[in-house]
Amino acid sequence: MSENAFLTVTDLRAGYGGARVLHGVSLAVGQGEICAILGPNGAGKTTLLRALSGMVRVRGDVRLDGADLSGRSPDTIARQGVAHVPEGRGTFMPLTVEENLRLGAFVRRDRRSLRGLRDLRGRRGGSAVDADLERVHTYFPVLKTRLKQVAGSLSGGEQQMLAIGRALMLRPRLLLLDEPSLGLAPMVTQELFRIVRAVNEEERTTVVVVEQNAHLALSIAQQAHVLESGRIVLSGSAEQIRADEQVAQSYLGYRV
Ligand SMILES: Nc1ncnc2c1ncn2[C@@H]1O[C@H](COP(=O)(O)OP(=O)(O)OP(=O)(O)O)[C@@H](O)[C@H]1O
Ligand SMILES: [Mg+2]
Repeated sequence: MSENAFLTVTDLRAGYGGARVLHGVSLAVGQGEICAILGPNGAGKTTLLRALSGMVRVRGDVRLDGADLSGRSPDTIARQGVAHVPEGRGTFMPLTVEENLRLGAFVRRDRRSLRGLRDLRGRRGGSAVDADLERVHTYFPVLKTRLKQVAGSLSGGEQQMLAIGRALMLRPRLLLLDEPSLGLAPMVTQELFRIVRAVNEEERTTVVVVEQNAHLALSIAQQAHVLESGRIVLSGSAEQIRADEQVAQSYLGYRV
């Protein structure tokens, strides 16, 4: 798979100031695959996603469909079709749901996003951005009923849906999700993961999901990597990792 992988990460090192957090991470994700990153608190999972979206300085090699992304700015990486839904969601609380969604289209690769800029306040124009808004509503019907509501007044689950919906406005080729289940009730989390799976299946969007809820992440992923202290200590298919009881206990914190 590695020869024709869509995302390839080779010997990635990253950190904050002088503090190195990732010590040479290598992985490959095929086009249209879902890859889960598991591991304990402080392992470097968030830092790995930040490194992929250009938010921390990196050494090593990151390629998306052959294009070199290492050392590129977050803006350039977003234009390559990488959408990052960060830990804590990153929605703009004082803006409405619709404004948040339209903002998600700003850095699209196509020039139609300029139209989206003008449409930020909701002027109708039948633009491609409007069409994408409709597309997001089919995945998250609840957002359609909340369009004029400020994001800060949404429930936690709705905010996470908005954050993912906003990322989808970019028409991403690679979707990076950091702990989408954080702080949400199990039912809401299951619904979110069902939608992520649907997006992946219908749009062939490649997904890298960081998740504490290993069981849930492994239920939608094809492959998984366990990160510990900035190194990948285990990689395999989701079934392999789920089936390994010792792994489940020592790294994933549950019994299979
Ligand atoms: N902005 C920062 N400045 C300095 N150090 C940081 C910063 N962010 C994270 N770190 C450190 O980097 C290490 C890895 O953090 P990271 O957030 O990547 O872990 P994580 O696996 O996402 O953990 P969690 O499961 O708690 O979200 C930790 O030791 C953390 O203290
Ligand atoms: Mg984290």
